[in-house]
Amino acid sequence: MMTTLEFTPQVEKATASIYARVRAVIPEIEWPVHAPYIARINELKAERNAVILAHNYQTPEIFHGVADYTGDSLGLAQQARDADADVIVQCGVHFMAETAKILSYDKTVLIPDLRAGCSLAESITGADVRMLKERYPGVPVVTYVNTTADVKAESDICCTSANAVQIVNSLGTDRVIFLPDEYLGRYVAQNTDVEIILWEGSCEVHERFTAEELRQYRKQTPGIEIIAHPECPPDVLAEADFVGSTSGMIDFVDRKRPERVVMITECSMSDNVAVEFPDVEFVRPCNLCPHMKRITLPGILACLENMQYEVTMDEDLARRAYSSVQRMLAAPQRKAA
Ligand code: 13P
Ligand code: SF4
Repeated sequence: MMTTLEFTPQVEKATASIYARVRAVIPEIEWPVHAPYIARINELKAERNAVILAHNYQTPEIFHGVADYTGDSLGLAQQARDADADVIVQCGVHFMAETAKILSYDKTVLIPDLRAGCSLAESITGADVRMLKERYPGVPVVTYVNTTADVKAESDICCTSANAVQIVNSLGTDRVIFLPDEYLGRYVAQNTDVEIILWEGSCEVHERFTAEELRQYRKQTPGIEIIAHPECPPDVLAEADFVGSTSGMIDFVDRKRPERVVMITECSMSDNVAVEFPDVEFVRPCNLCPHMKRITLPGILACLENMQYEVTMDEDLARRAYSSVQRMLAAPQRKAA
C-alpha cells in the first residue's frame, strides 16, 4: 500500500533548498506533489541506515531529491560497496541492483520495482554464454555489466561503456567474445585491433536514434556539440562529436562547457545535468527508458517502509559473478570516457 502525504509548511521548509536547486527543471506546480515524499523518504533513510543510489537516467526529483549517490552503472555499484550502510536502495534497473548485491553481498539490496528490466540484460542467458564458449573454445568472454548475474558468472571479465575498449585490449588476445550489446561491440571493434565476436543484443532506447536526427540538430543549431552513448547504432555514433558512457558525457560537459549541447541518450539525463551547468544550453531529445521510469518517489517510499523488494541470489552464483566484475575493477583504469 502506498502512503499519501501532505505538503505542509514544515515539508515546504524541509525541502526548500532542494527545490532551489531543481527549479529550472521541475515546475513549481509539481513541487507540492514531490516534496512530501522527498521529506519522508529522507527521514526513513536515516531510520533504516539506508543509502539511495540513483542512475543518471532517474527523474530529477529522485536524482536531486533523495539520492545519496548518483552515477553510471558501475560507479553506483562501487559506491554501494564502499558505503557505510545496512541497506542499499537501487533507483535504477534490476541488473544494477544485482551488481550492487554482487559487490556487497552482506548488505540488504532493495529495488522499488522488480519489473525495472533492461532489453540488453534480457537478450542473453547463462546457457547462451555456455553455448558460445563451446563454439569458440579458449576465446575470452567480455560481458557488459548490463547483464544478469547468471551471464556475469559464465564470463571471464565484465566491462562498462566507460572502459570497454581498455578491458578488451587488456586481455592480450587476438579475439574476444563481446556480449551482449552489438552496437557497443561494433564501437569497440572500431577502436581496437582485437577481433570481436558479437551477439545481437541492443538497447531499445538508444537503437531508436537515427543519424538523420543528429544531422537535423546540427542544421537547426549551428555550433552544437553532439555527444552520444555507445549503445547507439554505428551511423549515429559517426555523426557525434564525442562518444562516452553517461558519466563520460557529464565529464565532457564539465571539461568543455559547450554553449549548446545535445546528449544522445535517455531523456532524464539532460534535466539532471542541466541543474549542474546552468550556463550550458541543453537541446533535449526524448527517448525514455520505460524500465528506468518504473522507479518513482511513491515506489521508493513503499520500498523503505516495507523493505521491499529485496534482490537476493545464491552465494555461489554471487561468488562466480563477483570474479568477473572484480577482474574488471582490478584492470588498469583511466578516467571515464
Ligand atoms: P552507463 O553505464 O553509461 O550509465 O549506461 C547504463 C545504461 O543502461 C545505458 O543505457
Ligand atoms: Fe537497458 Fe537501454 Fe534502459 Fe539502459 S536505457 S537500462 S540499456 S533498456
